[in-house]
Amino acid sequence: MSIIEASGLTKSFMQAVKEPGLKGAVKHLFVPKHIEKVAVKPLDLRIEAGEMVAYVGPNGAGKSTTIKMLTGILMPTAGSILVNGVNPYKKRMENAAQIGAVFGQRTQLWWDIAIAESFSLLKDIYHIPDAVYKRNLECFIELLGMDEFMHLSARKLSLGQRMRADLAAALLHNPPILYLDEPTIGLDVSVKQKIREFIKQINQERQTTVMLTTHDLGDIEDLCQRLIIIDHGSIIYDGSLSEVKARFARDRMIFFQLGAPMPEMLKDQLLLIPGLRLARQSELEFSVAFDRNEYTASDIVSRVMKLGEVVDFRMEDANIEQVIKAVYEGNLDLGQSREEREVLSVHAVH
Ligand SMILES: Nc1ncnc2c1ncn2[C@@H]1O[C@H](COP(=O)(O)OP(=O)(O)OP(=O)(O)O)[C@@H](O)[C@H]1O
Ligand SMILES: [Mg+2]
Repeated sequence: MSIIEASGLTKSFMQAVKEPGLKGAVKHLFVPKHIEKVAVKPLDLRIEAGEMVAYVGPNGAGKSTTIKMLTGILMPTAGSILVNGVNPYKKRMENAAQIGAVFGQRTQLWWDIAIAESFSLLKDIYHIPDAVYKRNLECFIELLGMDEFMHLSARKLSLGQRMRADLAAALLHNPPILYLDEPTIGLDVSVKQKIREFIKQINQERQTTVMLTTHDLGDIEDLCQRLIIIDHGSIIYDGSLSEVKARFARDRMIFFQLGAPMPEMLKDQLLLIPGLRLARQSELEFSVAFDRNEYTASDIVSRVMKLGEVVDFRMEDANIEQVIKAVYEGNLDLGQSREEREVLSVHAVH
């Protein structure tokens, strides 16, 4: 059995429909109108213990709604969930003991209490043994650099400090499962890096299962081997990060630096090679983009070297940002059709 299992998981919300302006607001007061919004369409999910999974998708795709159902905050409209054998919304206490959750948009800490006090309250709430608490506290303070703000209340913390405190709070009771909903939102690069390193270490040392939603694709590249992409409430891809790159991003680019300008005539010879796209950066620099399924990098390099005096070259694969953008936009040039993608997502499910 997988540590997180959901099947046919669905969530609909009733959303108020108001006509614009004061007239609409008054009308809505007397004759309220609602439409049903299906935020998460029936979806199946299996996550294995120790996995670190990125759950990504455009704004409004249904990520937070899914996480809220998995954590037991929201009750599903339909479907079933078992987290470590526990139904999260029926056995809330039992579930709380085995999960940690960080919602980047909102703190879970007490607003007016010093962080040190909040932690000690959590110790009592979760019945954390003294030795475990002490060890975790020392370790988290050091790894997350929290010394300077342990005496401040959550209200007084900067966003980056607050996020570190939230992360530590979520892990004090050694939960085997950690849900992170945009844990790096709005953070500067160095705090982001600290948080990523910390999550990585927790996952490696404690085999904590991590499910992470993020719009920062650096988080994904740094942390996750598995990627689940959700769009309009349905999973459109579930598989490895490297596979999504290989399947959706066939473009490669090589940048060349020349010792002497290449005569236009020779460049034209390159242009004659089908499928190659040339872009000139300067007299002595240009790039060649090609489909990795049609040409190998050495193929391209050797052809260019025959034509000009190459002093240096570097290769660039499409980055994950371009890949995800292409998947969101259903860009058929980069991969396959939507139908093929659906098949892929079904086959790639672990
Ligand atoms: N409590 C609610 N009542 C009504 N509609 C809601 C509620 N919560 C979410 N929704 C709707 O459900 C859809 C999915 O929202 P959700 O917050 O899950 O998106 P998300 O993928 O987390 O997006 P983001 O990247 O912006 O955080 C949205 O259309 C949103 O308006
Ligand atoms: Mg969200």
